Amino acid sequence: MWGGRFAEGPSALMREINASISFDKRLWRQDIAASRAHVAMLAARGIVGQADTDAIEEGLDRVADEYESGGVPEDPALEDIHMHVEHRLAELIGPAAGRLHTARSRNDQVATDFRLWVRDAIDEIDLRLEALQRTLVATAEDHVDAVMPGFTHLQVAQPVTLGHHLMAYYEMLKRDRSRFADARTRMNECPLGSAALAGTSFPLDREAVALALGFDRPTANSLDSVSDRDFALDYLMAATQCALHLSRLAEEFILWASQPFGFVALSDAFSTGSSIMPQKRNPDAAELVRGHSGRILGAMTALLVVMKGLPLAYSKDMQDDKEPVFEAHDLLNVSLAAMAGMVETSTFNIDRMRAAAAAGHSTATDLADWLVREAGLPFREAHHVTGRVVRLADERGVGLWDLPLDSLREIDGRIGAGVFDVLSLDASVKSRTSFGGTAPAAVRKRIEAARKALGMKA
Ligand code: ARG
Repeated sequence: MWGGRFAEGPSALMREINASISFDKRLWRQDIAASRAHVAMLAARGIVGQADTDAIEEGLDRVADEYESGGVPEDPALEDIHMHVEHRLAELIGPAAGRLHTARSRNDQVATDFRLWVRDAIDEIDLRLEALQRTLVATAEDHVDAVMPGFTHLQVAQPVTLGHHLMAYYEMLKRDRSRFADARTRMNECPLGSAALAGTSFPLDREAVALALGFDRPTANSLDSVSDRDFALDYLMAATQCALHLSRLAEEFILWASQPFGFVALSDAFSTGSSIMPQKRNPDAAELVRGHSGRILGAMTALLVVMKGLPLAYSKDMQDDKEPVFEAHDLLNVSLAAMAGMVETSTFNIDRMRAAAAAGHSTATDLADWLVREAGLPFREAHHVTGRVVRLADERGVGLWDLPLDSLREIDGRIGAGVFDVLSLDASVKSRTSFGGTAPAAVRKRIEAARKALGMKA
């Protein structure tokens, strides 16, 4: 492609380090779409004649068909996807193919192709996120009354419901979707027509190309256009945060599926056995989601470090932008699908959860609140009195609600029989009716809102 200037070809090693076709062939659809939009505009502006344009358009269709049905032969000497498409086009239609590269460079080409690819990737991830949200909402609805221990410091804190707990992840994924959507809006500008770095002397219609490719507008600075990879970083940052959420959910399922917890039984479809220990049922899918999140974070870090310190405009370092994004995308995609499958097919052991909530004096705060509300104690004093009640229950090895009223009154005479209305797990959970609280009535409202937002049938 630049033979005019060079007497000798590159060494084999130069070819090897330079070639990106092994991975950037994933951009073939976007590369052909961008070429179509470009040549149509060149024709409309009279820069390329209609006969050549027709030949190029037909040729691009044929190259697309070839890629669709098994691909175009790879030649490392042709470096990347852009040169492969153009070279194959020339084989098919002859010298007219040479007009396609008028007023463009691989620098604005790759910036455009990759944006298009990342935009599609976001749309794919959004569908996956929505599917997982639906699974969470449906599962939460099935367990809106199921009491489980709520933890802080992984110590039993206060009773909550499984429905409430699962809906927490619905909220996280909602933020993930909004982050991806923000990134999509921001990246939706078309770099094509920026050429190598300085723009071009040809009378292009950048607006038309942008609109033809579904962009909102052309990018405003040619130097920025060919050197900007913010869109890839935005994607990776959103992906990292999403993966972090999945990793936390995965971690909870790993804990819950362990024998000491026994909160959940994973389905055969989403667990594996051990080749030596016949009793084992391992949460491999969840563990891999947890592991993948580390690799996705690594991909984000890789691209940040590649980009850091690059002068304007294009540098070849930027060819290293694609593999981290492809890797992160594939990992996130499969993680989201696996998590949806795992949650959907899990069976929750409601009795175990309730027993764990009962074991940790998780309604102690309810006793303290009762002393404030019904007996007029300052909260700090109520906290102290409750602490003594907890100690007594521990000494006797019983739950707070098993202590006789006489024993409670020995600790503080202001305690009355009404306290038993708040000491049970169900009463505690039911009383948390504040907006966003765990009361089943409150959670039902959140589920209702989520169903509506997701367009789910009631
Ligand atoms: N394969 C290259 C990349 O992905 C395309 C741009 C090459 N431009 C250049 N001036 N060498 O970055």
